Amino acid sequence: MTGTIDIQIDKIAKSRVSEYDVNNVPFGKCFSDHMFVAEYADGKWQKAYITPYGDLPMSYAMSALHYGQAIFEGMKAYKNAQGDVSLFRPIENFNRLNRSALRMAMPEVPEEIFMGGLLELLKLDSAWVPTSETGSLYIRPFIIATDEAIGVKASETYKFVIITCPAGKYYGEPIRVLVETNYFRAVHGGVGFVKAAGNYGRSLFPTKLAQAKGYQQVIWTDSVTHQYVEESGTMNLMFVIGDTLLTPELGDTILSGITRDSVLTLARDWGLKVEERKISIREVLTAHGNGTLKEAFGCGTAATIAHIVGIGFEGKDYDLPPVEQRKFSTKVDEMLRNIRKGNVEDKFNWMMKVV
Ligand SMILES: Cc1ncc(COP(=O)(O)O)c(C=O)c1O
Repeated sequence: MTGTIDIQIDKIAKSRVSEYDVNNVPFGKCFSDHMFVAEYADGKWQKAYITPYGDLPMSYAMSALHYGQAIFEGMKAYKNAQGDVSLFRPIENFNRLNRSALRMAMPEVPEEIFMGGLLELLKLDSAWVPTSETGSLYIRPFIIATDEAIGVKASETYKFVIITCPAGKYYGEPIRVLVETNYFRAVHGGVGFVKAAGNYGRSLFPTKLAQAKGYQQVIWTDSVTHQYVEESGTMNLMFVIGDTLLTPELGDTILSGITRDSVLTLARDWGLKVEERKISIREVLTAHGNGTLKEAFGCGTAATIAHIVGIGFEGKDYDLPPVEQRKFSTKVDEMLRNIRKGNVEDKFNWMMKVV
């Protein structure tokens, strides 16, 4: 960090944490005691404060609502057996938030505001971090445009906010996915490589159609030919074909996932052959046909690893090997959990201790 910031702290009178079993709350609906806010106006970040979690007073003309200048991050804090709280690779989320800000003509957040606010918030709300083996505190940093003005232009005022919510036990069910060849998630020159709120809004309708057909998620394909796979839902996509771990190469249509990078780093460390390149759905189905497609999975902060057990393509379903036979994805899932929970050596210095 380059410096420190003054954060005005208004503590909650009485913590609400005892009202919940943080290891067993439904995800995304129960928010921790405090939130961090920094305000941007007159060309610079102004005051920063921590306040009890609450509502946003806003105008119906607030520009984020109309023109979509809204970006976010998703990250997690973990508690080890000794009760220490640590973040997983937070600088990567900080850097990605600023890539999103740049692309959406929004102000970048200085590291001392992002990290300073985050660390202070987690110190106050450490009791909200679940202790269960698969539990974590989900952290949602975001920036929204707050000008009260109708008219398409970059807002002049913004709020950077961090809210958190416990994610108790996570049961990652294997998923069936439909290869989407009509709608697309991202285009070249677009915003698919950043976490702009609109990327998620646009994905809901195709996902709903796939769910009506019995799939949990879609596999997004490239917008030009619909032949090359890109991501699955809000996860990066990986395959084990033969003895190689394959994943689509990064570009401006794919989000650079921190889990993706972590999985690739571990795979390379274990001596596995890794290829980041274009992967056609035909290649995947040919491998399925000749028995070399051993594993397929999505990876991301929410699930870590979501095993794909079925792929739907052009009206046909292709069943994949059962999860019990998947050596790599099971091992990498376990290793990431153990690193985050402090059960094994943190060889790549991924964890940042908070309290
Ligand atoms: C579109 C998309 N792809 C991939 C990911 C996985 O990224 P990460 O591993 O950093 O959570 C996410 C989640 O942030 C996402 O929204």
